[in-house]
Amino acid sequence: MIRIEHISKSYGNIKAIDDVTFDVHNGEITAFVGLNGAGKTTTIKVSAGVIYPDRGDVLIDGYSIIKDKKIASKSVVWVPELPSFEMDMRAMDYFIYIAGYLGYPTSEAKELARELLSRVGLEGAERKRLKDYSQGMKKRFALALSMISDPQNFLFDEVLNGLDPEGIAFFRNFALELKKEGKAVLFSSHILSEVENLADRVVFIHKGRIVRVMRMDEVRNFVKPYLFLRVENPDSSLLEILSKYGRVEQSGNAFIIRDFNGDIGEVSYSISTRYKIVEIRMGYSSLEEVFFSIIGDRK
Ligand SMILES: Nc1ncnc2c1ncn2[C@@H]1O[C@H](COP(=O)(O)OP(=O)(O)OP(=O)(O)O)[C@@H](O)[C@H]1O
Ligand SMILES: [Mg+2]
Repeated sequence: MIRIEHISKSYGNIKAIDDVTFDVHNGEITAFVGLNGAGKTTTIKVSAGVIYPDRGDVLIDGYSIIKDKKIASKSVVWVPELPSFEMDMRAMDYFIYIAGYLGYPTSEAKELARELLSRVGLEGAERKRLKDYSQGMKKRFALALSMISDPQNFLFDEVLNGLDPEGIAFFRNFALELKKEGKAVLFSSHILSEVENLADRVVFIHKGRIVRVMRMDEVRNFVKPYLFLRVENPDSSLLEILSKYGRVEQSGNAFIIRDFNGDIGEVSYSISTRYKIVEIRMGYSSLEEVFFSIIGDRK
């Protein structure tokens, strides 16, 4: 469990984050969504204990990342957006070096390396030098390293960037496994469609402030359905009928009824005697639209 409590951080006179507060629950995947420069990385770095906030605190399983840093940082792992390693080292050797630092004797570290590198799909590439890894391979390698100490809490910063579809699917399964194990997972992302498929909760940040925290089922309720309709030769009396079901937008012979409060069968029944329906279907706005409608008045 990660408890972010009223953290603020400025770089010179740039206020990167301002009074940021939210929880990352155990057994849940929380998405952290915001535009470039919104403050995601700053929040994540403070939570990982890599930089200090000007105000506020972060509790990792109850331990302050500032006052009890040694204990707190043992149970949280941070996978940065651009992981940096000793690029001249071979993957296996670097893994053993990091595992050694975390207390694993070489023979055990080797065994763990084989297990975790194959778990992230890097079997066969253990002897390669890290500088010869592709960006996606580096991400996978960073994920393998993050599992060495088997922490309870995970912070993934833009982990989907630079991954191919197979890599994205891999991360998805990986995060779901962590969730099943009861871990707390926070991941920042710009790929909203992925957030939609993976997250249990979404934290929206805009200009350094948290603008909304929503459970995914709330997002789904927030996302109002619309009806899309195309008919031949529409006229003004059709517009009148459709207005009974919501807010109508017309473009040529196509209509969108926003905040649709009717039933698709009922609509098609009531107009089919007078109009030829070319297309009729329900639609739902995407998380992207939800995001922009939330921040829309705060731009
Ligand atoms: N080391 C730094 N020095 C000065 N300003 C910084 C530094 N790091 C971040 N900032 C500023 O703080 C603000 C928040 O940046 P941050 O990196 O946290 O955003 P982000 O949400 O991670 O953005 P992105 O989606 O582009 O990764 C931005 O205005 C950024 O320019
Ligand atoms: Mg960032």
